[in-house]
Amino acid sequence: MIPAGINAQTKSSSIRFDKQTQVFHIDAADMSYVLGINEQKEIQALYWGKRLNAADTFGVPHSAPGLSGFDSSINTTQQEFTGWGGGQYVEPDLKITFPDGNRDLVLQYVSHIIEGDKLTIVLKDISRDVFVQLEYQVDTTTGILKRSAQVQNKTSAPLTIEQIASGTWNLPRGTDYRLRYLTGRWAGEWSLHEQIIQPGKTTLESRRGSTGAQNNPWFAIDRNGSNDQDHGDVWFGALGWSGSWQINVEQDEVQQIRVTGGPNSFDFGYRLAPGEHLQSPDFYGGYSHDGIGGASRLLHRFEISTILPHGPDPKLRPVLYNSWEATEFKVDEAGQEALAEKAASIGVERFVMDDGWFGQRSTDHAALGDWYVNPVKFPHGLKPLIDKVHSLGMDFGLWVEPEMVNPDSDLYRKHPDWALNFTGRPRSEGRNQLMLNLARPDVREYVFQFLDKMLNENDIAFLKWDYNRNWSEPGWPAVAPEDQKKVYIAYVQNLYSILEELRAKHPRVEIESCSGGGSRIDLGIMRYTDEVWPSDNTDAFDRLLIQDGFTYAYAPAVMMAWVTDSPTWVNQRTLSLEYRFLSSMQGSLGIGANLNNWKPEDFATAKKMVAQYKQIRETVQRGSLYRLISPQNGSEQSVTETVSKDQSQAVTFAFLHSSQMLYPFPRIYLRGLRPEGIYKISAIDGKLSGDIPSVASGAFWMQHGVDIELRGDFQAAAFSLEAVDR
Ligand code: DGJ
Repeated sequence: MIPAGINAQTKSSSIRFDKQTQVFHIDAADMSYVLGINEQKEIQALYWGKRLNAADTFGVPHSAPGLSGFDSSINTTQQEFTGWGGGQYVEPDLKITFPDGNRDLVLQYVSHIIEGDKLTIVLKDISRDVFVQLEYQVDTTTGILKRSAQVQNKTSAPLTIEQIASGTWNLPRGTDYRLRYLTGRWAGEWSLHEQIIQPGKTTLESRRGSTGAQNNPWFAIDRNGSNDQDHGDVWFGALGWSGSWQINVEQDEVQQIRVTGGPNSFDFGYRLAPGEHLQSPDFYGGYSHDGIGGASRLLHRFEISTILPHGPDPKLRPVLYNSWEATEFKVDEAGQEALAEKAASIGVERFVMDDGWFGQRSTDHAALGDWYVNPVKFPHGLKPLIDKVHSLGMDFGLWVEPEMVNPDSDLYRKHPDWALNFTGRPRSEGRNQLMLNLARPDVREYVFQFLDKMLNENDIAFLKWDYNRNWSEPGWPAVAPEDQKKVYIAYVQNLYSILEELRAKHPRVEIESCSGGGSRIDLGIMRYTDEVWPSDNTDAFDRLLIQDGFTYAYAPAVMMAWVTDSPTWVNQRTLSLEYRFLSSMQGSLGIGANLNNWKPEDFATAKKMVAQYKQIRETVQRGSLYRLISPQNGSEQSVTETVSKDQSQAVTFAFLHSSQMLYPFPRIYLRGLRPEGIYKISAIDGKLSGDIPSVASGAFWMQHGVDIELRGDFQAAAFSLEAVDR
């Protein structure tokens, strides 16, 4: 079955090499990517965009002429991967310093191999035995390309890599491009920004040691003015890396657009001994002819089927309860059991105990690193609580923050050298904690062992893996000075390897990536985690904007969204329980409210909404998302629609900020239905207009549209369309 809404093609996919012209053609889904070997033996970008005809050919590639004596050909030729050398001023992919002081690197084609959906091209420096292996792997359903580069030191001396990118994405020459990107901060993640691409360079980056919220490693570029949610060319990309990173979007001197991405080159230095190699992160890139909405639908599909650990068909997210906003650090056996009973009564499927259960943890000042069960709060260990949760028909999840240590902890008292630090310098705290240096083999071992033991000894189905600060003083005094900067790579590699090993040993355990909210969400960590926490901001109105931004890059299927108390701690805003549920039901539903304060009618509402969610969750988590009315730019409304893979169900959520001047809620024009299909409309919550039929064709719902009755402030409604002709 071809999923609806992603314009997936029945077209075959292929990678072929035309020997005569020395050109590679990569065709998949609705996309073609063409590159070739020019007379300088450079790998030259020739085309990236809507799929071309199989009969289309390209001539033998020729490097571009230089502009003048000031700008030689190396700056004007669109290359796939450049070493910094010659007189190059555009952003390079690789920069190396050799022990003799030489810093010139000129890479030339050596060989290539095509294996199914994968193309590997080998490059080598003109005189030194430095090899670079470029990899391209194309996803046949979405046409999304995965690119990476591996640098191999086959010389007889160590060299230092000062910059490494996964590759350069090149777009056709033009001055009408627009860049979209995501920025944020704690409790305010996922702001969408747009800017015209001007001559010069925009750097999106994190210098924080991890992905960070300030920028997210995602971009989308379209042609300004000829583009909307569902029409027009969009080129997009996302980096699979959870350490410091950078993406440079550059319009060069001849108006060509280049996008490079990889680990951040700031404070970077990776010493590569003879015989060693360094593998870049994966940089994913895609093209959609169906506007930015089409681009995100492709990415969502790709993430679910290719990135997530259990792809192509990962499990649907269960409805979970989390104790954090209810009890904060005041967790104990009786209190958690009481919450678990209440959660089970409304249909919750997973009960998660958050922070506060371990060591001498009663505030955020102590105990991180001491991963034993607090004997006062849980005198008999976790077993009685876990058994109780199971007896209520739920599985059990637990909060951990494995990469951190409080100075007030037994672990730190024993191993002060395990924290990232520069000898003799201050150790800056964030949330009263320090970073463990996971690059150290002993720290890696400690973290793996405590988690493995905990999972061996307890029936835990889920870990909420938290990470509540960014790096400071990133020193690694235990290794030679020239190797200390390796920490930026080795830390992330060890993080991934712990997650990988844990998953292999405990295949039924699911993991959430949380970083005080959405500070570590990227396609790297998503390969090892089942869901992510977009923000600590759980205000259901703020969430509309947060969730909207999030879905530009990431799938609603992994987007955890809790229903919490009103007024919210964030804005002191009062919102009805129905509104809060509908906001959260656009992603993976969770409940984070203090159920001890709920009235019987709240339980009744929640029970009804959880049951409704279970009816539509497959569509919400697996379907194609259409942004019908965006909450961006101060919009008074927000409307999303998700259409199931087989187009037999569509679910629409509508939110009104504030009615103005007697205007009715705008008519909602649906998308993605089968025009000739027959669909029955039903309200999930709220009121449909009495003037619309209850059964009509997909064409009717898309062309005539749906009126709903929403008036007042902070109102919400949802309805579904079910196919009745199948
Ligand atoms: C930050 C997380 O985002 C919250 O949900 C909660 O788990 C706290 N940390 C606990 O310290």
